[in-house]
Amino acid sequence: MKTSARRIGVVGVGMCVPKKVLTNADLEKMVDTTDEWIQTRTGIRERRVVEPGMATSDLAYDAAKEALKRAGCHAKDIDLVIVGTTSPDMLFPSTACLLQHRLGAKSAAGFDLSAACSGSVFSIITAQQYLQTGRFKRALVIGAEVLSGFVDWTDRSTCVLFGDGAGACVMSRVSRGGILATDLGCDGSAAEFLCIPGGGSRQPPSHASIDQRLHYLRMDGTEIFKLAVRRMAESAQTVIKAARVPADKIDCLIPHQANIRIIQAMAKRARLPMEKVYVNVDRYGNTSAASNLIALYEAVQEGKVKRGSHVLLVAFGAGLTWGSVLLQW
Ligand code: ACO
Repeated sequence: MKTSARRIGVVGVGMCVPKKVLTNADLEKMVDTTDEWIQTRTGIRERRVVEPGMATSDLAYDAAKEALKRAGCHAKDIDLVIVGTTSPDMLFPSTACLLQHRLGAKSAAGFDLSAACSGSVFSIITAQQYLQTGRFKRALVIGAEVLSGFVDWTDRSTCVLFGDGAGACVMSRVSRGGILATDLGCDGSAAEFLCIPGGGSRQPPSHASIDQRLHYLRMDGTEIFKLAVRRMAESAQTVIKAARVPADKIDCLIPHQANIRIIQAMAKRARLPMEKVYVNVDRYGNTSAASNLIALYEAVQEGKVKRGSHVLLVAFGAGLTWGSVLLQW
């Protein structure tokens, strides 16, 4: 959808990853895998994982503090907090409420948004709607995950893929640039390809559910791979068309960082050259809802996104969910 009326943009970004690095060599000692297999199939060299006791809101807090600082505003100026996450501190209250209190964002409303790996993009677009209507003036949007607590560390087909982290941004009205077009979609018919079957109301936690390892993430990697490429490429093309920005004017494509082969295949299908694609999956693995915002933060820090740049965020995740945001920095 092409965006009109008030211009809404990102005015500050932040990120936080845990200090602890888990390399492919470390994983070789945990499951039957090799550094060579992981790098060739996924492009991942290492990922970050939290120490015991650290939760999603802890990473979200540090990322949020940095985004606020870079936006030049204080927590008390924020009137909306959205946390995109699939690994909240607790089933309830929301991680957004815990964060709102810890930050001292006394005037803010807040909620969590569940869109799996598309969490940042869904949250940015949701915040944009509230800001565009004038209901809120300044939103703090966070994508944060501690998926290391939900990954089966004995399952080599999934445990090599994920990492913990948080990305954050402050959004408000802007006088130039901002969000030009957005796209969102979902398809629940493919829900079983990537899910955590236990722990919810369908199969509440019990001795039996734990014994069956239902509280861990399950994935059909091959199906997810194909769908991720197709949906992300289509979504990217949808926003490019809606914004009427020629594809060669996209300065930086920031795709969800799940797998380098998914990124390469979607870029090719969307006819966007790899030189313009920001990649950090090698250092962090798949940080799910945090991935797009962590990558945006680093692209800005490295000067790959500058004032006036056209930036395309594209996401895909469990649900299935997918979405894109085309904005001018
Ligand atoms: N180390 C060594 N061998 C492994 C490992 C591992 N860590 N994991 C799986 N294998 C084996 C399999 O058992 C299989 O062996 P077999 O042929 O004897 O049965 C073999 O490797 C090939 O497995 P495939 O699944 O065919 O390998 P593929 O090339 O498809 O790569 C992967 C697997 C990396 C999971 C890929 O399918 C993928 O990236 N899918 C997308 C999943 C994804 O990124 N999910 C993240 C969440 S969704 C999202 O964020 C977009």
